[in-house]
Amino acid sequence: MRLGHVSDLHLSDRGRYPRNGYLPRDCDRHSVRLAQRVLDDLEAAGVDHLVVTGDLTLSSEASEFERAAKLLRRWADAGKLTVVPGNHDVWTAESVKTARFLRMIGPDGRGMRRPEPSYPFAALPAPEIAIVALDSAQFGEAPLDTPGLLGSAQLQACRELVREHVKEGRAVLLALHHHLLLPRERIPSDALVARTPLQDADKLVRMVADVRIAGVLHGHRHCAFRVDIPGAAGPTPILCAGSASRVAEEPIRRARGFVYEVDRGGIRSVQPVIASRS
Ligand SMILES: [Fe+2]
Ligand SMILES: [Fe+2]
Repeated sequence: MRLGHVSDLHLSDRGRYPRNGYLPRDCDRHSVRLAQRVLDDLEAAGVDHLVVTGDLTLSSEASEFERAAKLLRRWADAGKLTVVPGNHDVWTAESVKTARFLRMIGPDGRGMRRPEPSYPFAALPAPEIAIVALDSAQFGEAPLDTPGLLGSAQLQACRELVREHVKEGRAVLLALHHHLLLPRERIPSDALVARTPLQDADKLVRMVADVRIAGVLHGHRHCAFRVDIPGAAGPTPILCAGSASRVAEEPIRRARGFVYEVDRGGIRSVQPVIASRS
C-alpha cells in the first residue's frame, strides 16, 4: 500500500495575534496553500492512507483546528486518516482543559463528540499494516521549553500493541510527534526544537531494538531527514517528514510530504513530494 506522511502544518489565524507568545508575522512562516498543494500531490500519487504527525496548529486556537479539519476533511471522511497531536496542539491551558484537539480533530480527523483518552491505538490501513499512534505532546506553563513525554504506561501499551500485530503477521509502524534523535548535521535555526526533545526517547529507541518495528514516523523538526537505527527486524528507518507548509528557500526545509510503499515486509521505498514554489 501507499502511505502518505505529512507533519507540522502550523495552520494559524493571523488576525488573532499577538497572543500565546506569537506575533502576526510568526504566522507567515507557514502557508495553507503550500499544505494544500502537498496534500493534492499526495492524492495524485495514489496515497491510500495519510498519517499526520502533529503540530496542526500554531497555538491551539479553535479557528486553527477548524482550518486543519477543513484541510484534512476529504481524508477523514474517507476513513483514510490517522492523526497524532504535537506540542503546538496543546499550547494553551484552555485548549487542554477543553480537550480541543480531540474534540475538533482526534485520532481519525473526524473529532470526538465525547473526548476520551485515545492513545496509543493501532490503525489498520491495510490488512497487513498496523500504525501504532502515540501521543507525546505535553502541556506546560512555558510551552517553548516543555519537552515531549510518552510515559511508561503508554510505552508499555505500545509494546503490547506492537507484539499483538506482529503476531498477526503485520508490518508495524509507529507514529508520534517528537523526534527520537537528531541527525549529525545540525541546522542552527533548529535550536528551539532541540530545547523541546522527547524525554523518554531512549526507551523508544530500546523498543525498536527489542520488538519488530518496521519504521517510526515523526515530525517536530521542520526539516526532513531519515536515520536508520538498529532494530529487532534489522536497520529500522526513523523518518522525519519536516513541515508540509513551511515557506522556506533552504532545500531541506521546503514544504513537503512523503509517500512510503509499505507491505508485510516493511517500508520498501520513500519518496518525497515537494511543493512547487509557483
Ligand atoms: Fe512544529
Ligand atoms: Fe513540534
